[in-house]
Amino acid sequence: MSGGTRIVVEIEDEEPREFVVDPRAAGRSLADLLAEHGFPLNTRCGQRGLCHGCEVQMRGGAVSVGPDAASAPATVQACRARVMDRAHVVLRIPARSRIEHRPQVIDTFRIDVPCAHLPLFEPAPGGRDTAFAVDLGTTTVAVLLIDLATGDVLSRTGGFNEQIRFGDNVLTRIDAARSCEALAAMQFAAVSETISPLLLRACDRAGRAPSRLAGGAIAGNTTMLHLLTGVDPSPLGVAPFVPCFIEGKRLTASGIGLAAGKNGDALSPDTPLQLLPGIAAYIGADIVAGVYATGMIFDEAPSLLVDIGTNGEIVLQSGGRLTACATAAGPAFEGSGLRCGTRARDGAISGINLTLDPFRVEAETIGNIPAVRATGICGSAYVDFLSAGRRCGFLLESGRFDPAAWKLVPPGDRIETDGTRALRIAGEARISEVDVAVLLQAKAAIGAGIETLLEAAGIEAGEISRVYLAGGFGMHLNVGHAIAAGLLPGFREEQVRVVGNTALAGTLLALLDRTALDEMESLRSRVEVLELNLQEDFEDRFVDHLMLP
Ligand code: FES
Repeated sequence: MSGGTRIVVEIEDEEPREFVVDPRAAGRSLADLLAEHGFPLNTRCGQRGLCHGCEVQMRGGAVSVGPDAASAPATVQACRARVMDRAHVVLRIPARSRIEHRPQVIDTFRIDVPCAHLPLFEPAPGGRDTAFAVDLGTTTVAVLLIDLATGDVLSRTGGFNEQIRFGDNVLTRIDAARSCEALAAMQFAAVSETISPLLLRACDRAGRAPSRLAGGAIAGNTTMLHLLTGVDPSPLGVAPFVPCFIEGKRLTASGIGLAAGKNGDALSPDTPLQLLPGIAAYIGADIVAGVYATGMIFDEAPSLLVDIGTNGEIVLQSGGRLTACATAAGPAFEGSGLRCGTRARDGAISGINLTLDPFRVEAETIGNIPAVRATGICGSAYVDFLSAGRRCGFLLESGRFDPAAWKLVPPGDRIETDGTRALRIAGEARISEVDVAVLLQAKAAIGAGIETLLEAAGIEAGEISRVYLAGGFGMHLNVGHAIAAGLLPGFREEQVRVVGNTALAGTLLALLDRTALDEMESLRSRVEVLELNLQEDFEDRFVDHLMLP
């Protein structure tokens, strides 16, 4: 290129702007040139030609795309386009291709992809300018409120899923839903006893009335979304495990009986709700949201998503191919089923260190609350306990307390009830041998699941460029301790990135940028599901992983 190229850029509601490309910039992508001149595009796949985030519409002139020329009118991926010598190009950047929200880290999750500002719900008449994202987990539920005009997160809140009284795992709830009354009661528990109060609390914290809500997006595992919509989930409990629906669904608040607020301040019954798409009976919309939010579909080298919730779901990306499996981890790392377990929240013990000589237990809490006043122990602290307990010799390989080490514990911190030994961590918070056994079951399910999935793909742990470790136990996890405890077998610390609640992160992305929803929908056909119970070695691996390393 010797004479420079003129590029006219049109953006909705703005005057066209023009710039001239320096001839020395020959060979650079159109996306780079646009970014350099103040038009950064939504290059969420890292300019690898794998997404629709950088598409621009050619209104005049031509560009080259590989060996070919693309002449107006045409839509081109700007990351693959190069400008030609002395050309005059007119192009339009649609709103969905303009980057508005960069990758971000907030205290419950990390988002690794940028997105456009193209809200799923347009602000509606009557001041409906707010939207909500819900991650409907089997054990816990998280809600975010966002401002539709700015995309800012206004408030967040979370709590236990009130359906828990029908069973702490999906199988017991599927079983319980066999009667119409129980199915209706579970829908009521999710909608009216869980989401509605959380929504009210989130609105209250944000200082916005529920009447300002223009819509909500909801992710959850396939069973949770069946129960939320009052659809009988029994096909999910028997082979061949065929969901009644798996695609994204648009509903209204009144359609599922969701109400919040009173009189003139109440949520409008016609408020639209978007359920995110899932993949299969045990790889749900929560995982699709997570795969999208981590950006793993755009990774060049193999990568792995490990989502530790009530089920452990694992997704491997290798050469653009996605394989997933689900493993029954149980809710231990979400703080359920353990004597002092709690979610990661202010006042919870989030870190533990243990030494034997001298004997000492140190506890860290979220929010700097004194440890003696801790409200419970969250997943990251249990992981620390497994790692530190094993390292110092307090825990045997089997997870039992070493008898000699037990004698070193000050008498006031040894709690023995019904033949079960528990160690006081701080105040009323304690960890028992039964708790450790429950944690080891969860750890074994995850560890064996990871190994089985990798082996089926013929990939070693060391070949994985990045492990995205997701889960409601959030951003407090010490990765080195998770590896030492055997939760991530065979990985090195530098491979692992803690990404928190990616289901919520993906749901937020779908709210901010409706094109994210299209990409999530397209993922459905790209993921191959591996049934762990049909894999020969899974059972043996599970038993091996019941031990601490
Ligand atoms: S950034 Fe161009 S296709 Fe993804």
